[in-house]
Amino acid sequence: MVNILVIYSTTDGHTRKICLRLKQVIEQHGHQVKLVSINETPDVDLQLFDKIVIGASIRYGKHRPQVYEFIERNQELLETRPNAFFSVNIVARKPEKNRPETNPYVIKFLKKIAWKPGELAVFAGKIDYPKYSFWERNIIRFIMWMTKGPTGPESVVEYTDWAEVEVFGRRVSEM
Ligand SMILES: Cc1cc2nc3c(=O)[nH]c(=O)nc-3n(C[C@H](O)[C@H](O)[C@H](O)COP(=O)(O)O)c2cc1C
Repeated sequence: MVNILVIYSTTDGHTRKICLRLKQVIEQHGHQVKLVSINETPDVDLQLFDKIVIGASIRYGKHRPQVYEFIERNQELLETRPNAFFSVNIVARKPEKNRPETNPYVIKFLKKIAWKPGELAVFAGKIDYPKYSFWERNIIRFIMWMTKGPTGPESVVEYTDWAEVEVFGRRVSEM
């Protein structure tokens, strides 16, 4: 049994939901998982964990600055143990952009950091118009209109492939 730290960067909670599924899968493999928000990481002793996973969603084309800051601050420690990263974004709903090698945000992310995650994944996120502010809803509806996604203002669509999340959970358990 090993201790695994899963860190999430989320705005609307979907990345956390993916992390909760990962936690279930990893625990079924007999390991222990602690889930923390990236904002809580200054209070966590990273040394206590055998493996570290970071999951972060995209907002307006970017992973949050805290994700880069955390990686820069802790790269040396990350490299001393098995580690993984996954991105959550809506572009990954497209089959031609749903792998780390083909998803533009993962490609850009890897170019920007010196850390090379041991395991990588990308998951399609969720559209939840009723949850967004007026401006966010209309900006995202416009982007969806341009990219042939849902535009109905009441639409709530979860694009995440949960079977893929489970496969990643097994990879993390075994890495
Ligand atoms: C304001 C806003 C901006 C977004 N910008 C992007 C974007 O630029 N590219 C993309 O692929 N997805 C974008 N998304 C989709 C999110 O990545 C997706 O909804 C994801 O599930 C959010 O995860 P979270 O709830 O963990 O933050 C955006 C969503 C919102 C609400």
